[in-house]
Amino acid sequence: MSDITALLDARTSGMSLPQALYTSDAAYHADLEHVFYRHWLFAGHSCDIPNPGDFFVVPVGHESIVVIRDRDGQVYAHFNVCRHRGSKIALQDCGNAKTLLCPYHQWAYSPNGRLVGARLMGEQFDKDSYRLRSAHVRDLAGLLFVCLADEPPDFDRAVADVTPQLRPHGLANAQVIARHRYDVEANWKVVIENNRECYHCQVSHPEFCLSNYDYGVNGDPRSDAAYSEVLTDAYRRWHDQGLHPAEVSFPGGAPYRVSRLPLRPGFVTESMDGQPVAPPMGELPNADVGSLRLISLPNLWAHANGDYAMTTRLTPTGPHSTRIDVAFLVRGDAQAGHDFDPDAVAYVWKMTSEEDWELCENNHAGIRSRAYQPGPLSPLTENSVEAFYGWYETQLREGVAERYTPTYAAQNRSTQTTYR
Ligand code: FES
Ligand code: FE
Repeated sequence: MSDITALLDARTSGMSLPQALYTSDAAYHADLEHVFYRHWLFAGHSCDIPNPGDFFVVPVGHESIVVIRDRDGQVYAHFNVCRHRGSKIALQDCGNAKTLLCPYHQWAYSPNGRLVGARLMGEQFDKDSYRLRSAHVRDLAGLLFVCLADEPPDFDRAVADVTPQLRPHGLANAQVIARHRYDVEANWKVVIENNRECYHCQVSHPEFCLSNYDYGVNGDPRSDAAYSEVLTDAYRRWHDQGLHPAEVSFPGGAPYRVSRLPLRPGFVTESMDGQPVAPPMGELPNADVGSLRLISLPNLWAHANGDYAMTTRLTPTGPHSTRIDVAFLVRGDAQAGHDFDPDAVAYVWKMTSEEDWELCENNHAGIRSRAYQPGPLSPLTENSVEAFYGWYETQLREGVAERYTPTYAAQNRSTQTTYR
């Protein structure tokens, strides 16, 4: 039995995880191997690389992936590893390059990964045999995902479920107007758990709670008659606006959830006074479209409001640390100072994020104590945390057994449309 299997066997459902699943090197390496190197990962925004040769680099554990657009507009993802003697090629976080030029001996690769220059290798040298090793890449309505596995899990269903709901927000033609980077001293699972529940929201998130209901947030299954009525009315309105509202929650065990939620009366967006902080995004007639939520395990959550969108990307950097990149987007032709104030766009989610990181660091610090024992989850408001544990355990068990299931069971599909 592997160490990891023993740790998973020690897990009790309805309780937080055994300490070593958060803190041990073995669990960290298993997480990289069986979760981050296996699954679709949010990499970045297609609007960040609009032109041929534009690229950005995504770190994934010990790996580095270059995401680059070629002359035909197609986006490629390549391992950032030279085929000569293995040097890292792209050394900046982002840039524009006609060819990816290795800094060591100047082998040059076109954006599609073909080796196009290799000086002093002799006349017989066959450049075609030394393409960059590519990773899989998909564009989900302007959000770029990569997968490092040879055989990636199914992503078609996520694209089919999310695209009609996200596309009207026009992320593909938006602009990123603020990027906040944090190095948080907490295991990535602590950060995901915190995102998966709003048990903590009322006390810790005064700005977030101005605009958001208690119910429906982060998969909280609670409801009451008044909220149900609000939801029914909102779904009818969004349906009439052609927004295709449909809650799709981890169908058949697939690792994503998409859901459009109403905001509190008087709030058309997640701002401090409820008023839009930027012009309507994409094709939206106005900003009053509620708030579209997307989570894609293991490393993304996003809110697409009518006037701005926020994406949060997690990158584990060790058992006790996670790099977090939060980005804010508004429509592509909006002008700072004229159409929006970047600080006002980012305000609610800057505050909320930083409040969360402090909670996560406190949580992780306590988990490291010899006094820590797994504790009970709320059956009313932490169901999504338990669901995350179940998904996580499955990934590790399948990984340890090398028994991957690249497609999700269609018969378990649980699309739920709340429009009535
Ligand atoms: Fe890249 Fe030599 S290692 S050119
Ligand atoms: Fe929070």
